[in-house]
Amino acid sequence: MHVNWKHVAVVLAILPFAVVFGAWIGFFNVGASSGHWKITDWFLHFAMRSAVRTYALAVEVPPGLPHHAVQTAAGHFARGCALCHGAPGEPRSPAVLRMLPQPPDLAERVNTWSDAELFRIVKHGVRFTGMPAWPSEQREDEAWAMVAFLRRLPALGVEGYRDLAYGPAGALIDRPTTFQQALAECTRCHGVDGRGRSTATPVIAGQNEAYLLQSLGAYAEDRRASGVMNVVAKIVDRRHWQGLAAHFAALPPPPGRPGTATELVEAGRKLATEGNPSRRIPACLVCHASRDRNPVFPSLAGQPAPYVKQQLRLFREGRRGGTGYGHLMREVARTLSDNEIVALAAYFATAESRPARSIAIRSGLESR
Ligand code: HEC
Ligand code: HEC
Ligand code: HEC
Repeated sequence: MHVNWKHVAVVLAILPFAVVFGAWIGFFNVGASSGHWKITDWFLHFAMRSAVRTYALAVEVPPGLPHHAVQTAAGHFARGCALCHGAPGEPRSPAVLRMLPQPPDLAERVNTWSDAELFRIVKHGVRFTGMPAWPSEQREDEAWAMVAFLRRLPALGVEGYRDLAYGPAGALIDRPTTFQQALAECTRCHGVDGRGRSTATPVIAGQNEAYLLQSLGAYAEDRRASGVMNVVAKIVDRRHWQGLAAHFAALPPPPGRPGTATELVEAGRKLATEGNPSRRIPACLVCHASRDRNPVFPSLAGQPAPYVKQQLRLFREGRRGGTGYGHLMREVARTLSDNEIVALAAYFATAESRPARSIAIRSGLESR
């Protein structure tokens, strides 16, 4: 038979209906047990790698990976990733190995991807595979921290991984039910002393109880974005929140480091105590250190500089939620410059927790 364009057109016109009909009568096997045909397998993997490579071109890579946040990322990996991908000393479960596609052992794979590509996968996930997107779209900094951790993964032994991910808790409890189990969950990242096991994690020791409690609520209800804490707050039973907040509030805060008065710290101290009225920046200590302040306003003394910097950037960009008072802080941070943020962070990292009563606070708010 001579095939001309009319035959081709007819076949092309019928094809979509044939495919829909096939799907309707259940022709296509969606079972995962038999695996894909080799050609399908090859094609899907090829398509996935190509898509990641192309979309990664638009990713802006930071000058250096945030290695200071690797512990936090490891702690999140244990809860959010290891159940599918396994971890050093923890092979993937037989159930996971029956998934199609299989979640790969990442230690064997990470070196086949660039930083930008890993970021793209971690932030957006992979459609039709079960690989989830990062729990909070707002927090690219956290996805980068995960990339920094993934880079470290191939060389990480069992002990190294357990120390990073579990710390003093020693293991991960799938569903913390008792108060002690809930507390153990927190110490994985915040440490037994509540001072944080990395400088990406805030000090919660000695922090105001009301602030801690309301922050947990803000994370659980996604009013404050953090892929790490959103997951934790949802997994720990509400009835333990009050006890946890009281426990950490009662721990001694870190001592100040008054000897470290560099030029940078001094500039930060001046801005924190006096504000800058001409630039409409209020004195931070009015809200953060005065004795009669609202109990939900947190203390900042002794917070690690990288944490403070990150939070100020988030406030400035309108991406930091919080308790019902977060809007006050977004207003304050709107006009802060990068240099001011660096100086303020340097100051608060060394500041003493119990401010002497003699701190002269001049508020930039009074004139408003
Ligand atoms: C529900 C299971 C599941 C969870 C949870 C999960 N992944 Fe995946 N992940 C997958 C699957 C399945 C693939 C394979 C996708 C493919 O081959 O197209 C994958 C692929 C990846 C890849 C690409 C590896 C490669 O070479 O194909 C990276 C990187 C990755 N995941 C990182 C993570 C990180 C980091 C987390 C935690 C934040 C995580 N995954 C959580 C299922 C999961
Ligand atoms: C996997 C690591 C990890 C675990 C586990 C963890 N945290 Fe956190 N926590 C963090 C990080 C990182 C932040 C900062 C998140 C952000 O950027 O908002 C944080 C922030 C907080 C804050 C806000 C503090 C502030 O100064 O604003 C509170 C409160 C808190 N965590 C309480 C807890 C409690 C209680 C537990 C145990 C139930 C817990 N966390 C478990 C890593 C963790
Ligand atoms: C009008 C009161 C007010 C002033 C002035 C103020 N803040 Fe805040 N700040 C807040 C409140 C309220 C929060 C808590 C937001 C939330 O999570 O609900 C906060 C939170 C913060 C946090 C996050 C703390 C944490 O543990 O996550 C940082 C960092 C911070 N402020 C820095 C500053 C700096 C630096 C200044 C001065 C330039 C300043 N603040 C001035 C009210 C204020």
